[in-house]
Amino acid sequence: MPSHIAIIMDGNGRWAQERGKPRLYGHRVGAEVAKTIVLAASDMGAKYLTLFAFSTENWKRPPAEIQGIFRVLEEFFLREVKLLEGYGIQVRIIGEKSGLPGSVQSVVERSEELTRSGRKMAVNIALNYGGKWDIIQSVRSIARDVQSGRVRPDDITEKMVSSRLSTSGQPDPDLLIRTGGERRISNFLLWQSAYSEMYVTPVLWPDFTPDHLKEAIREYRSRHRRFGGDGG
Ligand code: IPE
Ligand code: IPE
Ligand code: MG
Repeated sequence: MPSHIAIIMDGNGRWAQERGKPRLYGHRVGAEVAKTIVLAASDMGAKYLTLFAFSTENWKRPPAEIQGIFRVLEEFFLREVKLLEGYGIQVRIIGEKSGLPGSVQSVVERSEELTRSGRKMAVNIALNYGGKWDIIQSVRSIARDVQSGRVRPDDITEKMVSSRLSTSGQPDPDLLIRTGGERRISNFLLWQSAYSEMYVTPVLWPDFTPDHLKEAIREYRSRHRRFGGDGG
């Protein structure tokens, strides 16, 4: 079983458009699917799940869609936080929170607080997240320590950079799933996915089911992870 699963939840817009509906309808259904998949991953024994919900590049979309996505996210947390708490799921928001609308910030912070003691599974919601942003904020924090004399440049290690990323304390993703068929990383977990097994499915996110997740895990188990070694 992969300990950490990360998912690029892509395809909401196309799914809605195929049905002659506004893109926002796809985002609404996508939020329901996210809930189902969080519970399914937890039942299957995953310890960490990271969901890409809004990227630092998604600000390029029309303001109406952006506002709609944030409304869906806000409603999702308001509606589901009790359920997540009940299942022992700890919520962590990764991404630049200060760039989010104030109402979203307060709702997600409350969700983090309420679920803090959850031990069954940790779910990271990547919101206003970019892999480049994550590396920059880690580097800035190290630079501050260098400036104040606490760290010497030669003492900077891989571990130090990792420990200041938004996913600090968590293992890197074992399995990285992308729905919607695109074969790219779209600035998701750049550092953390160095050795993740990638699984791309054409299934659009609103159609993604626990059985699809099982299939991805089944395929993951057949992979031979070498981590640069000779495979022996
Ligand atoms: C993913 O679905 C959700 C977000 C990026 C917020 P999209 O909205 O990107 O859907 P497609 O890729 O256009 O179908
Ligand atoms: C990636 O999807 C971001 C999220 C799922 C939140 P995009 O739809 O933004 O990615 P591109 O634009 O196709 O690379
Ligand atoms: Mg997309």
